[in-house]
Formats: sequence, structure tokens, C-alpha cells
Amino acid sequence: METLDQMLVSSWYNVHSSVPPSFVQLPENRPGRVVSSLHKAIPVIDFGGHDLGDTTKQVLEASEEYGFFQVINHGVSKDLMDETMNIFKEFHAMPPKEKVNECSKDPNGSCKLYTSSENYKKDAIHYWKDSLTHPCPPSGEYMEYWPQKPSKYRDVVGKYTRELKKLALKILELLCEGLGLNLGYFCGGLSENPSVLVHHYPPCPDPSLTLGLAKHRDPTIITILLQDKEVQGLQVLKDGEWIGVEPIPNAFVVNIGLLLQIITNGRLVGAEHRAVTNSSSARTSVAYFVYPSFESIIEPAQALINESTPAIYKSMTFGEFRRNFFQKGPKIEEELQ
Ligand code: OGA
Ligand code: NI
Repeated sequence: METLDQMLVSSWYNVHSSVPPSFVQLPENRPGRVVSSLHKAIPVIDFGGHDLGDTTKQVLEASEEYGFFQVINHGVSKDLMDETMNIFKEFHAMPPKEKVNECSKDPNGSCKLYTSSENYKKDAIHYWKDSLTHPCPPSGEYMEYWPQKPSKYRDVVGKYTRELKKLALKILELLCEGLGLNLGYFCGGLSENPSVLVHHYPPCPDPSLTLGLAKHRDPTIITILLQDKEVQGLQVLKDGEWIGVEPIPNAFVVNIGLLLQIITNGRLVGAEHRAVTNSSSARTSVAYFVYPSFESIIEPAQALINESTPAIYKSMTFGEFRRNFFQKGPKIEEELQ
């Protein structure tokens, strides 16, 4: 039986000159053609402008049309973004056993290192990545279980996730404004339990056969992603075609999650996306997941339903949603209605 430190893709990828069979995707799931026409690019929104009404409109339109947008001039400093990306790159470059040790401090497993997907044994075919995840609420709860190596980890990731919470609330407030929800709708329990999820995709000998991350919708309110500056990998499914999300230095990629799809009663839809690998460079991405507390109720907002547009999703706690999501995976949507 292989141990986790041996199983990590980053531990063995460079001793193979071809893709091991258990990582070769079925033909229908292999990365095919990617559209790169300007008409279908993911919108880039400047938060530094002075016309708040215009920013609100852009955010809402991008969310409705793509479920994805990028933001620039968002107020998070370039230095903090760089430091954060570097700390996670350094983490994934540490010796495998050290990585496992640094993620084993919580007996309840709140901080996790895994390879492929969260459930390696259930994957029919594995994914070309290693991931690290842990909760990151601004209260500092759980921080005692975060890695302590690299030595500045807690300091940098603590600072970064506090800034990201502010940015998340800013984006959610713009969405509330656009949708006609009370501006504080997401300020309490609905954004109380964020998590950070860091993926590391090592170079792959044949990217046409593998995926780094399967096609999915995020089980979040929204997700804010810091991409590697140079290495492309994220793709969004739009009208049946895959669109690449161009890395823009110092921008964040924002996407609508399934929970916001429920809350907006389907007006916003969690877009499907995936990550592909490449043969020359490793890619690291840092996702900030806006998650509610487990007891928060997830249901269509009262302000968005009426007799002519009745609720199409049932009400459940976030805890129930999570259990369903992990059991049903992509089939979750049938379960929500
Ligand atoms: C995710 C995700 C994209 C990426 O973590 O849910 O979609 O580029 N990540 O790693
Ligand atoms: Ni995702």
C-alpha cells in the first residue's frame, strides 16, 4: 500500500516519460479544442472605476452570462498576492513527508493534503494534481492546525485570507445591489466559514490525455481564484464550448457557486469549469471558497421569489447540502429541486 507522500503526483511525475494508465481520461473527457475568440472571453471588470452603478451592472451581467469574471484594481496588494502565491509554491515544493506532516495537526482532519480528488479511491481515473485545503475564517479558528512550514505560512495566509474576506463581501454587495437583495445579505452566517484550496498541477508528459481537475461547479457562494501569472490551465464551459481563462497578472478570477445559484433561484448559475495540465511548467492556483456556517439555511431569497417565479429549489442547511454534494457529486442538481 502506497502512502500519501508517495502517491502525490509531485513525488513521482518526473520519473515517468508517459502518462500512467490510471491517469488517462476516457476519450470523451480528454481536453479537446479550446475557443479563444474575443467574443467569448471571460469579462474583465475594473473595480478601480468611480461609477459604482456601472461596476454593479458589469458584475451582474458577467455573472448572468458566464458565471465567471476577472477583477482588476480590487484593492488587494500585489505584494500580498505574490507572497501568497510564493508561499504555496514553496509549500508544494517541500519534501513529500514534510508536506504530509504539516497537514496532519488536526485529529479531525480540518487541514487536508490529498492527491487527485478529495476521494482518491472513488475516482475511476485520477487527476494530475495535489491539493491542500483548510478553513480560514477571519476569527482565526483552525489556524492552530495550519502548516507552520514554510515558516511564514500562517502569517502570510492569515493576512491574505483576511483581505480576501473583505473582497468577497465587496463582490457580494455589488451582486446584492444588482439583484435587489438587502446589501448585508451575505455578511453573516452565509460567508462565515471560508476555506482555502490550493492546487498544484505538476508538468504532465501528455496534457492531451489528462485533466488536472474534472468538470465541476463549485459548492460555494462564490469562489475567488488567484491564478499562476504565466501558466494557463483553467477552462470554462460556455454554450457547449471550452473557453480558456487567460492569466492576467494581479487579477482575481471570480465565479458563481451552486449555493448562489440556489439563493438567486437559478437567476445566476454556477458555471462548469475544469483545469487542464501542460507539459512545460507546473501551475499553482489558490481558491478562496466562500462557505456558510453548517447551520446556515440555503434557500431561494424571499426577495427573488413571488407567485410568477416560485422557488425552484428546496431549503436545506449548508451541512445537508455538503453531505448531498459529497454523495451525489455532479448529480447534486436533481437533489436540490
Ligand atoms: C476549484 C477550481 C481552478 C483552478 O478549486 O474549484 O475550479 O484553476 N480551481 O485550479
Ligand atoms: Ni472550481
